[in-house]
Amino acid sequence: MGDADAVAEPIVEFAEATPYEQYVGVRALQALVRPVTDHPAEPSFLVVTQVMELWFTLLRREWELAQRLLRADDLDGALSAIRRSVHHLRSLDASWGSLLWLTPTEFNGFRDQLGEASGFQSYEYRHVEFLLGLKAESVVRPHQGLPAVHADLLRALAAPSLEDDVLAYLSRRGLPVPPGVLDRDRSVTHEADPGVTALWVEVYRDPRPGNDLFMLGEALTDVAEVFTTWRQRHVTAVRRAMGAKPGSGGSAGLAWLERSAARVVFPDLWAARTVA
Ligand code: HEM
Repeated sequence: MGDADAVAEPIVEFAEATPYEQYVGVRALQALVRPVTDHPAEPSFLVVTQVMELWFTLLRREWELAQRLLRADDLDGALSAIRRSVHHLRSLDASWGSLLWLTPTEFNGFRDQLGEASGFQSYEYRHVEFLLGLKAESVVRPHQGLPAVHADLLRALAAPSLEDDVLAYLSRRGLPVPPGVLDRDRSVTHEADPGVTALWVEVYRDPRPGNDLFMLGEALTDVAEVFTTWRQRHVTAVRRAMGAKPGSGGSAGLAWLERSAARVVFPDLWAARTVA
């Protein structure tokens, strides 16, 4: 056999933990998988929740990066980050598949041991919502006991959302963003604004790839759509696993979640479809 046919084998000698372990931290990850019962259904519930937290963190990174790039007038860079985030969102959404087998009997087997713990208390999820313009002071309050987390959330509540940065960028590109929108109160949920809706209608008049603002509008619409799908599938997962029982976090459960999931992300991009 000549040298041309030799296929190198992987390195198998390491004096310490493999470079893979040093990079990925598998032992640290495993140490975090600590079910509170012996119920066979609980590990999947815990791991899927932890995996979703990691997706939230990644989304936050992508959108904060997109904000920095937009502020530097780098639309191509921002668009890449937003496009990547759509793929992350699809993977986040696909994670529901690992929980859909959970029956009420199985969930009841470990639910009481979770006490008052609820996804409502996820602060990474709140960062995701705030970046998407869904703002509320009330969802910051549960985190008073963790001062660094609380301060970071309060900062994010008052800071521009991804949409605020998009509108500031559009304004710098010479589009007529109403001044009242540019300096609106950032700590409340965005509502559709006729001036911003009209602006998107104009952008969408040329729906071709060469129109970079149209591509931005579509990428943001993808974000809004897949995020909404995740929230709707959460509602369905809840209906399947516990019906209309009250939530462990103290809410009415299904009815409360349905109302929360109905909030609209990037309302002007949707309103523009009505006006067009
Ligand atoms: C089938 C399993 C699940 C059930 C039965 C369930 C149930 C609930 C309920 C009843 C609420 C309302 C608040 C309350 O009173 O507790 C809620 C909120 C929430 N859950 Fe879940 N959940 C499940 C899985 C998950 C997973 C895996 C995540 C991922 C982190 C998650 C994230 C959230 C978030 C972010 C909220 C707040 C939603 C909002 O503010 O609109 N849930 N969940």
